[in-house]
Amino acid sequence: MTALLEVTGLVKRFAHPRSLIDRLRGRPAGAVQAVSGVSLTIAANETLGLVGESGCGKSTVGRCILRLEQPDGGTIRLDGEDISQLPEARLRPLRRRLQVVFQDPFASLNPRRSVGEAVAEPLRNFTDLRGAALREEVARLFERVGLRRDQIDRFPHEFSGGQRQRIGIARAIGPRPDLIILDEPVSALDVSIQAQVVNLLMDLQDEFRLSYLFIAHDLAVVRHISKRVAVMYLGQIVETGPRDAVFARPRHPYTAALLSAAPILDPAKRSAAERIILTGDLPSPSNPPSGCRFHTRCPFAQGVCSTTVPPPVDAGDGHIAACHFPL
Ligand SMILES: Nc1ncnc2c1ncn2[C@@H]1O[C@H](COP(=O)(O)OP(=O)(O)OP(=O)(O)O)[C@@H](O)[C@H]1O
Ligand code: SF4
Ligand SMILES: [Mg+2]
Repeated sequence: MTALLEVTGLVKRFAHPRSLIDRLRGRPAGAVQAVSGVSLTIAANETLGLVGESGCGKSTVGRCILRLEQPDGGTIRLDGEDISQLPEARLRPLRRRLQVVFQDPFASLNPRRSVGEAVAEPLRNFTDLRGAALREEVARLFERVGLRRDQIDRFPHEFSGGQRQRIGIARAIGPRPDLIILDEPVSALDVSIQAQVVNLLMDLQDEFRLSYLFIAHDLAVVRHISKRVAVMYLGQIVETGPRDAVFARPRHPYTAALLSAAPILDPAKRSAAERIILTGDLPSPSNPPSGCRFHTRCPFAQGVCSTTVPPPVDAGDGHIAACHFPL
């Protein structure tokens, strides 16, 4: 079976200008290695959770898939077709199929336009709906995400954070996409509101047969919504697999450390892994450590870790960790 989305060896670098010190020392401008060989697949109607610390490259992966960034390497296949190098004209029909919901619902809505116009815009771009039919579809979408149809002429500042995120979701599902990149969609919301929005997303997934790439740093949220998870560290995926396997038996020390940082409410579910505490700062993605990129912070690091890149090893049922000494 062909996956809906298949990303292989994705690479994205950003040039960063020379700092004053670089110039004084005659050093050339560098590059941020935001994404260094990421591979992932998402099947139809499936959710992949993508987690990792701030700056590890999660949003850049999402933006490359959406072709808001031009990848420097690798392939992005949608239904088997590589879209990573398609020119804009050929991307246009595909843009309907790939939608996005961002973290900050206020920043992604134009404060001077009514929220109904915001939801209508992609429908105007990607469908033939116009006039009363368009307005009726916008009203229906509002109701579907838990808002009222009489709210469509209001402006973003008249809504709460949770309501604005519902508007962002209505905007994303309007053109009936196949895949939605959910980039920290609930991270800015209160915990009680987070659950409501996550439940809405799960209902919509079944109703519209959607696939999600759910980006988050909060493991608890990812656990609820994703069947599979991928853990990123400094531009690379270090562990991926079925949610239950990864959460119950993390094999990569970084995943174990992330899990130990997350609150575990049920003492019976605590494991030896919870004692791995993450120390030190995230190294610079401009100059990532050699070998295993995690070796500067890993309590289990040995000599080989700083010299040799650990190959991904499958423990069975697609539970893969890139570590010389998996847990
Ligand atoms: N347009 C850009 N120009 C230069 N550097 C960038 C750009 N976009 C991202 N980066 C850098 O690439 C790296 C990855 O950034 P990215 O936003 O993908 O991380 P993230 O995992 O989404 O982080 P966060 O959790 O904070 O959203 C960071 O070092 C970031 O500073
Ligand atoms: S390869 Fe070595 S440094 Fe990297 S996670 Fe495994 S044990 Fe730690
Ligand atoms: Mg991000």
